[in-house]
Amino acid sequence: MERSQWGTRAGFIMAAVGSAIGLGNIWRFPYVAYENGGGAFFIPYLFALLTAGIPILILEFTIGHRYRGSAPLSFFRMSGKKAEWLGWWAVIVSFVISVYYAVIIAWAMRYTIFAINQAWGTDTETFLFADFLQLGDVPGQTGDIVWGIFIPLALVWAITLGILLAGVKKGIEAANRIFIPTLVVIFLIIVIRAVTLDGAMMGLNAFFEPNFDAIMDPSVWVAAYGHIFFSLSVAFAIMITYSSYLPKKSDITNNAFITGFANSSFELLAGIGVFAALGFMAAQSGVEVADVAAGGVGLAFVVFPQIINQFPGLNGLFGVLFFLSLTLAGLTSLMSITETYVAAISEKFGTSRRKAVAFGGGLAALISILFATQGGLYFLDLADYYINQFGVAAVGLIEVVMVVWVLRKADNLKNHANAISDIQLGGWWKFSLGVITPIVLGYMMFGLLRLNIL
Ligand code: PHE
Repeated sequence: MERSQWGTRAGFIMAAVGSAIGLGNIWRFPYVAYENGGGAFFIPYLFALLTAGIPILILEFTIGHRYRGSAPLSFFRMSGKKAEWLGWWAVIVSFVISVYYAVIIAWAMRYTIFAINQAWGTDTETFLFADFLQLGDVPGQTGDIVWGIFIPLALVWAITLGILLAGVKKGIEAANRIFIPTLVVIFLIIVIRAVTLDGAMMGLNAFFEPNFDAIMDPSVWVAAYGHIFFSLSVAFAIMITYSSYLPKKSDITNNAFITGFANSSFELLAGIGVFAALGFMAAQSGVEVADVAAGGVGLAFVVFPQIINQFPGLNGLFGVLFFLSLTLAGLTSLMSITETYVAAISEKFGTSRRKAVAFGGGLAALISILFATQGGLYFLDLADYYINQFGVAAVGLIEVVMVVWVLRKADNLKNHANAISDIQLGGWWKFSLGVITPIVLGYMMFGLLRLNIL
């Protein structure tokens, strides 16, 4: 069977950027930066981007391009059975993430409709937990299906799996070519509107004000690395899969820099938009920005609805655009993460794309129904915590240590990338991967383990 390929270079970049830009950029980044030193966070952030994010992205692009397979097959071709498991591990992490990532997109989709007439009312917190999620008092209780979540969830999976069925070029590439430019335009409108609100400056001051003490705090560095991994979708086997569809003649390093900088620019923009809006809300209520800032689902689904309620004019439109941007950003990431295990299954078992989509995607969709029941939020918290803390960082750490020190493939891969790329990799690349990243990530894992045991 001939291997699928991207139609154009721009198509590949759109797809990689589509994978990177996701829910994490819009709601995760603003809050993480604010919590971890504000303006000063950019120092560890840039350090992590340049020494881990982009170098690992280059590594994964090179592996996929060179070995032309999904993650397990690529690692197998690189060094046989002793490397293949690493690919499977990343594939499993991806599978688990896709199961709950889809649920949040479903919420965003539903909230796009609520936004039209602010159906969430004034008490947006009670609305989210009691009315929309129908959470009982007992955590972890599962009960009936909550139809308000189930229907959009079914839609999210139908769209995603439908796109994957259409193939790499006609499905994933074509969808990203429409979704990503639309997302950028919508998001620019939101940000421009947000920074012209009363009180926007107050929000931006709170966001950018540097707390330089934070730089001395190791957990801030850990947060920067963790965020870069999640945000760039590296160490999930995704970028290996996507680059395995590159034509032979492709530039690797250039594409990685474009993807990395596009992703960071987008999240910087998101931080500006979100904090401008938070400043507006603080000014309306006469409180400090710190009093209205919230993390996680609270920011998008509790605080933003309140901001939309108080919005001066056209608030329905602003609300719809905001939740639509979350939905679009999420869908392009969900596609990439699902393609990762679809490709792995289809190669391992020699089945068609259709069967792999039906089996892998179908299974993920079925499991995600658990989250559409009462008590679903409880599973979501658990999954998010364990996967983010252990899954991703562990794959990232083991990936770099394996490639550089155990399998000793760094030079080989460097030559492969250099032969086809404009920007030439030098010693910094191997040093970042082989020394800096393992030290920081090793420290991170060790610290987390200790925290969890104590
Ligand atoms: N990079 C995506 C985001 O920022 C999240 C993601 C992680 C997507 C892993 C796919 C895989 O939201």
